[in-house]
Amino acid sequence: MKHNFGAGPCILPQEVFQQAAAAVLDFNGLSILEVSHRHKDFVAVMDEAIDLVKKALNVPEGYSVAFLQGGATLGFTIVALNMMRENKKAGYINTGTWASGAIKEAKKVGVDVNVFASSEDKKFSYIPKDYKIPTDVDYIHFTSNNTIYGTQFQEFPKTDLPLVCDMSSDIFSKEINVADFDIIYAGAQKNLGPAGATLFIVKDSILGKSTSPFMPTYLDLKQQVEKESMLNTPPVFSVYVAMLNLRNLIANGGVKAMEARNNAKAELLYNEIDANPAFIGTVAKEDRSKMNITFTLADESRAAEFDALWKGAGIVGLPGHRSNGGYRASMYNALPIESVQVLVDVMKAFGK
Ligand SMILES: Cc1ncc(COP(=O)(O)O)c(C=O)c1O
Repeated sequence: MKHNFGAGPCILPQEVFQQAAAAVLDFNGLSILEVSHRHKDFVAVMDEAIDLVKKALNVPEGYSVAFLQGGATLGFTIVALNMMRENKKAGYINTGTWASGAIKEAKKVGVDVNVFASSEDKKFSYIPKDYKIPTDVDYIHFTSNNTIYGTQFQEFPKTDLPLVCDMSSDIFSKEINVADFDIIYAGAQKNLGPAGATLFIVKDSILGKSTSPFMPTYLDLKQQVEKESMLNTPPVFSVYVAMLNLRNLIANGGVKAMEARNNAKAELLYNEIDANPAFIGTVAKEDRSKMNITFTLADESRAAEFDALWKGAGIVGLPGHRSNGGYRASMYNALPIESVQVLVDVMKAFGK
């Protein structure tokens, strides 16, 4: 048995893999891979996936859900184009590689970006707190979980300005108040489903208000919402598996139950990191991510020994991101606590 600590694409529930595999052979007499996206059986899948997102996150009235393509990376451009108003100014918090990517792409489409808070000075090892949110901007953007460096906002920025969040790596891991946001977006490939779909949760009142002189049809959230995510051929398989995974999430107690499980998993691993002198946690304790837990060895010369131990225990996906080094245990919703215990046991054995 493998214990998949990969950062994404990542583990999904085994039952979801089985159901998805069955539908590859027979969805409605046809394979899910060959069925028309306009067939009523797939339209029902899209409708259910959208409904389940709303149910799982208690999405209030006045918000729409859409499944697009291009990943969160195209999302960086989409949110900038759609939130651009008279000012063409936006405030961004820079907490790492993905936040920096969002800043870069917003600038490319003509947004004057004010990076009013950043943790770049300490290699993104903390979440900035002492900042003043600018008032002369069209919207505020932040990244709720820093997948690469292992930090996570424990409290979201408070502002009356439109708030946009890249929640790619912690959406569906804990309860959130959707009404605090104007756009939430996330690549599917962590807690939602396979790579291919990008989720958008959008406040309807922001649609159609862009001042961008450039707005390709596909990137216009108003058109995407109006066409119910069927403006062009959607990522059929990714949406189907996301729907299965959301059904599974809700059947297992929903986001609230998941949050309790994720807290228990994170506590188990952080306790070991703190108690075991062979390991060093790499980020500020109060900002630690519950999804991506980063650490290094106290003695780097023992890396080969540690690597042999965790690989021997069936663990995969533990090396840190190539830009950060060290180790990263990504513990998304579907990773069972038993897998975390296997890692903790390996760490204990290594520490002895
Ligand atoms: C927080 C965050 N934002 C954006 C991205 C980029 O996502 P995508 O590969 O879907 O474009 C990632 C990928 O891991 C991520 O973790």
